[in-house]
Amino acid sequence: MDLRDYIMLLARRWRIVAAVLLLGAVVGYLGGHAETPQYKATATLFVPPPPAASGSRAPSYAAIAASPQVTAPVVHELGLPLTPGQLARRISADAPPGTALVRISADDPVPAAATRIANAVAQRLAVIVERLDRPAGGGSAPVRPTVAIPASVPSAPHLPTLLLDLTIGLLAGLVAGLVLALFMDGADSVLRTADALAVELDLIGGPPLLGTIPKDGRVARRSVAVLADPHGPRAEGYRRVRTNLRFVPSDRGAKVLAVTSALPGEGKTSTAVNLAAALAETGARVCLVDADLRRARVADTLGLTRSAGLSTALLGQAGLDDVLQHLDTFTVLASGPLPSNPTELLGTEAMRRTLLDLAERFDHVLVDTAPLLPVADATVLAPAVDGYLLVVRAHRTTRRELARSVRALQHTGTALTGTVLNGSSGRGDAGSYRCRRPTLARVPAPRRYRPVLQLLARPCGPTPHAIAPFPTTESALP
Ligand SMILES: Nc1ncnc2c1ncn2[C@@H]1O[C@H](COP(=O)(O)OP(=O)(O)OP(=O)(O)O)[C@@H](O)[C@H]1O
Ligand SMILES: [Mg+2]
Repeated sequence: MDLRDYIMLLARRWRIVAAVLLLGAVVGYLGGHAETPQYKATATLFVPPPPAASGSRAPSYAAIAASPQVTAPVVHELGLPLTPGQLARRISADAPPGTALVRISADDPVPAAATRIANAVAQRLAVIVERLDRPAGGGSAPVRPTVAIPASVPSAPHLPTLLLDLTIGLLAGLVAGLVLALFMDGADSVLRTADALAVELDLIGGPPLLGTIPKDGRVARRSVAVLADPHGPRAEGYRRVRTNLRFVPSDRGAKVLAVTSALPGEGKTSTAVNLAAALAETGARVCLVDADLRRARVADTLGLTRSAGLSTALLGQAGLDDVLQHLDTFTVLASGPLPSNPTELLGTEAMRRTLLDLAERFDHVLVDTAPLLPVADATVLAPAVDGYLLVVRAHRTTRRELARSVRALQHTGTALTGTVLNGSSGRGDAGSYRCRRPTLARVPAPRRYRPVLQLLARPCGPTPHAIAPFPTTESALP
């Protein structure tokens, strides 16, 4: 994941991050309130350096302030319910640099107790220091440490610090929120619904969602749903894409459209074939070109021959007219024999001229392509097409693959015309609005209204077309 992916993640999951952040702040605040307040009292000991000594010895004395030699007598003297070790953990001492002072602080839940402990430790330390400084041969110490500033009773606790607890809570919440967002994103990186896809496209600046094609278990038997099941949800989905295509603003016009997707098997060919049929329904002249020179499937899907087609024309082995196959509804330029160098062939000037030629003859030219992420075939077509239609397979294409595909297409400089969500199983998508009219014929009604109901009950939608490959050009092929 790069920085851009993390920003996307934040933009996508900001709600969960914000919620956990807030939770962290609340836990920090409440945790701080639940803590027992601690009071700190500080006594300051003045330890003048011995006349012959160079430098202050205060840091050394600060280091022994919490030693058992000091704490044990203090526990005994004050009758504290603590062991010398426990008392040591409540004491801290430091020597401000460049001074002969030792500051001794004591923590306690009771302010007066903190004061008594700080003063007792300071006095005991003074005694120990004096004893340590006594000359080896006997006599009194050259200097006598004194408690310069006795500890006073603190008026406010120094712990808990609300700001500190809040900050710790916020930071912990932020980290936990990001980890949770990453986890959720990993668990749900696949795009499932039209809503999720629309949000994602919005975030990454992708092309608009033009329609949703529902999942259909009969695709293998009825690959061209627009013709074989014209009133079914899949056909309706393709018609919606067709309609929405008309409203996509385009500088170059959207006459020649390449249909592509991130990875294999996401529905490029199904979309190209059905959209061609849906566009042809309006009376437009449509040509479908199979430019997937690796897994050419258009001809097989439509029951046509693919022994001659695009590759044959590009290599100059046949004229374009010789390899176009005309159906009742639209025209097909099959792949032709698969070349060993598909990317190079698709990037040639001949390819650009072929599509230009077709654009002059037809109202719409749809180009079925290879997937975007594994090979460059679809992107090298950029100069030859007006726009790209990106197919996203519901429950399969991931957000990352979508983002990478959109980026790859954006780099080509050619318009991203629209996105189609294929294989959606979501209710309420466009495809579920089935034609209901025939059921009206079964409504029990008085005899005189029956002709009206029967009239209304005529199958709705356009008249289905049969696929009739005519004339096949097989005989004319080289
Ligand atoms: N809406 C759908 N519901 C169910 N199955 C579908 C749907 N659309 C496509 N399929 C199935 O998914 C498979 C792949 O479809 P298709 O060949 O159109 O994808 P493709 O992207 O062109 O694949 P390739 O990259 O191999 O060319 C096929 O078996 C097809 O029947
Ligand atoms: Mg295909």
